Amino acid sequence: MSIQIYNNKTFLLSTEQTSYVVQIDDSGILSHLYWGRKLPDIEDFTGRIPTRDNSYHASIDKTMEECSSFGMMRYKETSMKVRYADGTGDFRYRVTGYQAEKDCLRITLEDAFYPLKVTLYYEVFEQENIIKRYQKAENQGDTDILLERFYSAEYGIPGTSYEVINFNGTWGAEFRKYSDKVNAGKKVFESLRGSTAHVANPCFIVHNGAREYEGEVYYGVLEYSGNFKIVAEATPYEYLNVLIGVSDTDFTWILKPGESFATPAAYCGYSHQGFSDMSHTLHRFCLKELVPEAFADKSLKVLYNSWYATLFDVEFEDQVKLAKRAAGLGAELFVIDDGWFGERNSDTSSLGDWQVSKKKFPEGLTPLIDEVNRLNMGFGLWLEPEMVNEDSNLYREHPDWVYRFPNRPVLKGRNQYALNLTKEEVVQFMIASIDNLLTEYKIDYIKWDMNRPVAETGGTSEVFGEGKEVWVKHTRNLYRVIEECRKRHPDVEVEACASGGGRVDYGAMRFFDEYWPSDNVDPLDRLEIQESYSYIYPAKYMRAWVTDSPDGFTKRKVPITFALHTAMCGALGIGNNLNTLSLAEAEEIKKQVAIYKRIRDIIQFGRLYRLKSLTKDEFHAVQYQKDGHNIIFAFLINGRYGKEQYHLKVKDLIPDCRYRVRINELEYSKSGAYFMYYGIDVTLKGDYDSQLIELDRI
Ligand code: DGJ
Repeated sequence: MSIQIYNNKTFLLSTEQTSYVVQIDDSGILSHLYWGRKLPDIEDFTGRIPTRDNSYHASIDKTMEECSSFGMMRYKETSMKVRYADGTGDFRYRVTGYQAEKDCLRITLEDAFYPLKVTLYYEVFEQENIIKRYQKAENQGDTDILLERFYSAEYGIPGTSYEVINFNGTWGAEFRKYSDKVNAGKKVFESLRGSTAHVANPCFIVHNGAREYEGEVYYGVLEYSGNFKIVAEATPYEYLNVLIGVSDTDFTWILKPGESFATPAAYCGYSHQGFSDMSHTLHRFCLKELVPEAFADKSLKVLYNSWYATLFDVEFEDQVKLAKRAAGLGAELFVIDDGWFGERNSDTSSLGDWQVSKKKFPEGLTPLIDEVNRLNMGFGLWLEPEMVNEDSNLYREHPDWVYRFPNRPVLKGRNQYALNLTKEEVVQFMIASIDNLLTEYKIDYIKWDMNRPVAETGGTSEVFGEGKEVWVKHTRNLYRVIEECRKRHPDVEVEACASGGGRVDYGAMRFFDEYWPSDNVDPLDRLEIQESYSYIYPAKYMRAWVTDSPDGFTKRKVPITFALHTAMCGALGIGNNLNTLSLAEAEEIKKQVAIYKRIRDIIQFGRLYRLKSLTKDEFHAVQYQKDGHNIIFAFLINGRYGKEQYHLKVKDLIPDCRYRVRINELEYSKSGAYFMYYGIDVTLKGDYDSQLIELDRI
């Protein structure tokens, strides 16, 4: 039973491994009691330790509330902040009811005087060890109510000196993992860019010295791709208060009479077995519950993308040549990136004009698609639907379709403007442009890009003080566009990209089949980016390309096998310039692509173990386990002092079973116990050496 209720006051939410307990106290406040390893008996939670007021610290501030509201002598960061028409600015609630049904629990809070009702939703994913939360505010009166902050969830974690992990960075340097101690005050991770962005990720991991396979870890992710905020506040009352939700910066939602506002969902989990267990739980959960159905059970194909070969200079003959070579290497999807539409020869023009360039493709795309299909590949196209260039027919016709402030020149990012998605005509235009392309052409895949942040979100309301709901409406309408396009074209695979990894989040996960984690394809940087990425996101949702060396970004020279093995850690893609590729490199790509196709199900659907990490070990290694089949990649960056033998202990084998290992030409079998407790000897030599190891249960 996932939900138990005692005395109409105490609620125990149980997954297979964890428990989460909340309780209504004598004053009607809903407070948090416990989050951790599974506890069997709800009656153990009958008594509570009373908190005492003193002159400066009200007990309400000390309470670990499930949904605190600014005001009433609460001075910590709160879940919500409201203002009523007469200026009253707090939500003095009592719990007025609850409803439990199967795995779902709803608890309602109502203001003692004002007609505001807030419902807290909990859904228990018992087998997945995940609890979903979101909340809804309803105006039951006849005057407007302002919501000035309304996060998705609040978690009280008793104790001090916690560390909080988030993934921060910038273009080309995404997913830098930092674990910062929050001894006092607040740690805030936020995006104000109208998208998830590279600066932070909508997730939190809280721990106190946890490691890969041991230690307590509390974690949560937000199902949202717009402005978000995560606050971890070390309160003076010896608990860490963690809040996650839509950012309250430049946010107000006007709740008109009878209206309601529901937050995006947050998903949280707890493990006492370190980060590895957390990642397995999250990977399993999102693959099972969140990702779009069409490709959920299918492994992703090996794609070739011609961006690095031709940049904006795409035209029929050249692309056909590349397609032939890509097919020869084993690619299954051929993708044209930026530059195929309007007058697009650089990033200065044509976004918004989603018609095939007549100069580059005089007969349209069909002859190329036919050729690509004849070569046994699917066809893919790049799009950037949320944007427009000043130099475009769309902007000339509709200069009012972009976000702008009156009396200000519109700001450009990468020479482009962000379309105002709160306008219905913009939404309809986007749906129609994508639909037209997907209807006219046999397109199997879209790379959906987004290359500048949203800004200047004014001009959506002329009423002074209104218009701050635009950030949320923008994201909701973006989802509407994607959802509608997917509904009309369910067989088209869609990859999310936003100047690299600017749109990797659990909100996008419902709509996209894969993500592009970074424009930085340097294999060394990628190993680190990919490792951090794997904390929260599964390998299947990580496109990874092999590209030319030296890498354009870092100028680092890396052997092609090392680069291939790095890219094979996710959904493999090829991004090399096939016009200049040497014969030897082409042979190696062909060989590894064939291997990848044989093992990709283990990588894309298997359980991932971060065996060795560049951040602390001599070499880097990652293992994928599925149904007794294991793939391990080992990477040596910098061999020193002639050392060639390295040692690797494997995870997740059955001790008494026999396993056969294959490394290069070498093959032998031993027990699972041997490989787990003694390990495998791996030969790695010099700089940038790598090994692919296969280990199968016999
Ligand atoms: C940014 C993306 O991250 C790149 O992969 C490429 O698609 C360019 N945009 C094209 O303009």
